[in-house]
Amino acid sequence: LPDLSVNYLGLALKNPLLAAPAGATETLARMKRAEEAGVGGVVVKTLFEQELARRSPSPRFRVLRPELGRSESFVLYSYEQASAFGPQEYAAEISRAKEGLSVPVIASIACVTEEKWAEYARLMEQAGADALELNLSCPHGAKMLSRADPCAELERLLPEIRRTCRLPLVPKLPGQLTDPVAAALRLEAAGADGLVMFNRFTGLDIDLESERPLLHGSYAGHGGPWALYYVLRWVSAAAPRLRIPISASGGVASGADAAKLLLAGATTVQVCTAMLVEGYGVIRRMLRELEDFMSAKGYARLSEFRGKACGRILAAEQVDRVSRVRGEIDRRRCDRCGLCLRVCFYGAIETEGAEYRVTRACEGCGLCAELCLPGAIGLVRI
Ligand SMILES: Cc1cc2nc3c(=O)[nH]c(=O)nc-3n(C[C@H](O)[C@H](O)[C@H](O)COP(=O)(O)O)c2cc1C
Repeated sequence: LPDLSVNYLGLALKNPLLAAPAGATETLARMKRAEEAGVGGVVVKTLFEQELARRSPSPRFRVLRPELGRSESFVLYSYEQASAFGPQEYAAEISRAKEGLSVPVIASIACVTEEKWAEYARLMEQAGADALELNLSCPHGAKMLSRADPCAELERLLPEIRRTCRLPLVPKLPGQLTDPVAAALRLEAAGADGLVMFNRFTGLDIDLESERPLLHGSYAGHGGPWALYYVLRWVSAAAPRLRIPISASGGVASGADAAKLLLAGATTVQVCTAMLVEGYGVIRRMLRELEDFMSAKGYARLSEFRGKACGRILAAEQVDRVSRVRGEIDRRRCDRCGLCLRVCFYGAIETEGAEYRVTRACEGCGLCAELCLPGAIGLVRI
């Protein structure tokens, strides 16, 4: 079997999958379930300074648009806020987790006032945490760092936090940044030991009946498997420029997704939504899938492919705009459903009696082949 072990922040992890901070990692009992499912480490649900955020409304989850297009997709829309614990209880839970688990335990804090960052950080070190995530955004609308640019503010505070806390410090970047690479570089320069890219996005859904915000009446976090591509894009851009490790978070639903993030340069990969909607056991499947990928590729260790895709990302001027394909319909498989006829905005599908035909107007965009349910459209080089 391939060796999945990895060094992250000086911690020896048996594999790169971390249980991401959320309600599923709030207590030792829940962290234990993640450990039993095989995670390499756990990040504990965030301790918030803001007391209001320690109580979440109920209910706080909705699963939106489960069948987007013809594919299985969904949006997990939620308003679960902070850990319910105050600082002392949270620290006690960290100590219990350190005793009760064999995998590393990473604490997570989010503060509003400047002094509290250093104070809570020291508390986490005293409680025995192995590392500390500094959570810079809450997509669920809790008050976080008060300024418009939380990364800049943390950049300024990091040296102060470092003075009181020797744990590896890992800022968790908000999903909504104009330039995540610049933010990552600045935080590295300010002394961060690693970075989590990213937290979820803030969103809004509206209930058409009441014409008010869905669920609890305010903004909410939203995410799902579709978020992966944003994370891949920015991890691949940041990783080659950083010396510190990236823990990738967002949209990971399979071992293949984890393998992609490792290829993009991540050192560890965090799993949250998949664990919530499929149960902790999803980790077991993901680890198997990651091993399968490595075995198929002949990789014995993660370091053999970490970041391998980064150097293979073409610049706009290098993209092949010359080679062409065109659609070709396999008449035996075509069930004449009419989908290609409707979706081809080039008007390149014609009917000839009962048969469908691709005309010379075909630009070879490939959308019909992607959407054709019986798989009757292929693309041939011209
Ligand atoms: C219900 C819920 C609660 C979360 N709570 C926290 C939290 O307390 N602290 C934090 O840093 N991230 C929190 N997150 C964000 C996750 O840790 C993770 O970064 C994000 O959901 C993206 O990963 P995913 O697509 O695997 O869910 C939460 C996410 C969800 C869905």
